[in-house]
Amino acid sequence: MAGSSFGKVFRITTWGESHGPAVGVVIDGCPAGFGLEEADIQVMLDRRKPGQGKYSTARAEEDRVRILSGVFEGKTTGTPISLMIENRDHRSADYSAIRDVYRPGHADYTYDEKYGIRDYRGGGRASGRETACRVAAGAVAEKLLKELGVTCKVRPVMIGGIPAEEEKTVRELLDAAVREGDSVGGTAECIISGVPAGLGEPVFDKADARLAAAVMSIGAVKGVEIGDGYAAAGSRGSENNDALRADEAGRISKLTNHSGGILGGITDGSDIIIRAAFKPTPSIAKTQESINSEHENVSLSITGRHDPVTVYRGMVVMEAMAALTILDMMLENMSAQAENVIRFYGNRK
Ligand SMILES: Cc1cc2nc3c(=O)[nH]c(=O)nc-3n(C[C@H](O)[C@H](O)[C@H](O)COP(=O)(O)O)c2cc1C
Repeated sequence: MAGSSFGKVFRITTWGESHGPAVGVVIDGCPAGFGLEEADIQVMLDRRKPGQGKYSTARAEEDRVRILSGVFEGKTTGTPISLMIENRDHRSADYSAIRDVYRPGHADYTYDEKYGIRDYRGGGRASGRETACRVAAGAVAEKLLKELGVTCKVRPVMIGGIPAEEEKTVRELLDAAVREGDSVGGTAECIISGVPAGLGEPVFDKADARLAAAVMSIGAVKGVEIGDGYAAAGSRGSENNDALRADEAGRISKLTNHSGGILGGITDGSDIIIRAAFKPTPSIAKTQESINSEHENVSLSITGRHDPVTVYRGMVVMEAMAALTILDMMLENMSAQAENVIRFYGNRK
C-alpha cells in the first residue's frame, strides 16, 4: 500500500476514501516563507468540484479546504502542510446495490483481488474523489510556479470523438449519453509555459517519463502524449525535427515544437505540451454483464451520481499533476550545476 506519495523534493501524500469523513493531502518539502492561504487553494478546487454543470456528477460537495498545519501567519513554515477536505454529501446507500458486485471498467474486481477487502462505497481510493487532494496540492505548486514565471493551462480537445469547441454538438452527444444511461471518453491538453531549459534527470527520471507517469496516475487516463505523440510515428525526420535558430543577441529559439518542449528527457525552454486520453466514465446506468464476489454471473445497472464524461473535471487534475511535476523538477534541478551550489553556499563568512 505504499503508492500514495508522489514527488521527490516537493512531495505529496494523499489520504482518505470517497465515503470516509474526509480526504486530504500532506505536502512535505514546500519551501518556507511562501505566502499561502486557504483561498489560494479553494479557487482551483472550485474548478474541479462536482455539481457545477449539467454534465458534472450531481454530488453537491462543498469541497472546502482547511489548512491544518505548515502555515503560520499566512506563510509556509517549511513543515508538512496538511490540507483536509471534508466529505459532506456522500450517500453510501447509493452503493449498497454494488456491495458484492464488480462494476465493469472500475477498480472493484482488481482491488478485491489485491487486498481481499474493498470499501465499495464510491470506489474508495479509486474514486475520482481522491483527485480533489491532488488538485489542492497542485494549487500550492501552481502558486509557487507563478512566482517563477511558469503557468499551466488546460483545455478539452475532443469529447466523444467531437472537437470540444463544437459545443452544441458536444452537448447533444452528452444529452444522448445521459438519456441512454451511457458515458463517453475524450481528450484534454495541458500547455506549460515559462519552463526553463534543463529540467529532467536522465535516464529513468526524464521529464517526459515523469510527466507521463503523473498524468497516467489519474483515474480514467489511458493514454498520454508529449508533443506530436503518436502522430510523430507517421511523420518524417525532416518534418518532425524542430529546427534551432539563434538571433543576433544569441537568443535560441525553435521554429516548431513537435517534440513538445522536451529532448532527451530534458526540457528545452519551449512550451511543454501534454495530451491525455480519458476513457468513458465506467459507472453507467445501462445494464451491463458482470460477476459478483462469489464469481457468479450477474446483470447490473448502476445508480448513484456519475459524470457522463470525466474530461472536464479530469483536466483540472491533469493541470495539478503537471504543476506538481514541474515544480518538483525545478527544485531538484537547483543542484545540477556546481556554479549554482557555490553561488548559494560559497559566500558564507
Ligand atoms: C475527476 C474524476 C472524476 C471521476 N468520476 C467518476 C465517476 O463519477 N464515476 C466513475 O465510475 N468513475 C469516475 N472516474 C473514473 C474512475 O476514477 C476510474 O475509471 C477508476 O478508478 C478505474 O481506474 P482506471 O480507469 O484508471 O483503470 C473519475 C475520474 C476522475 C479523474
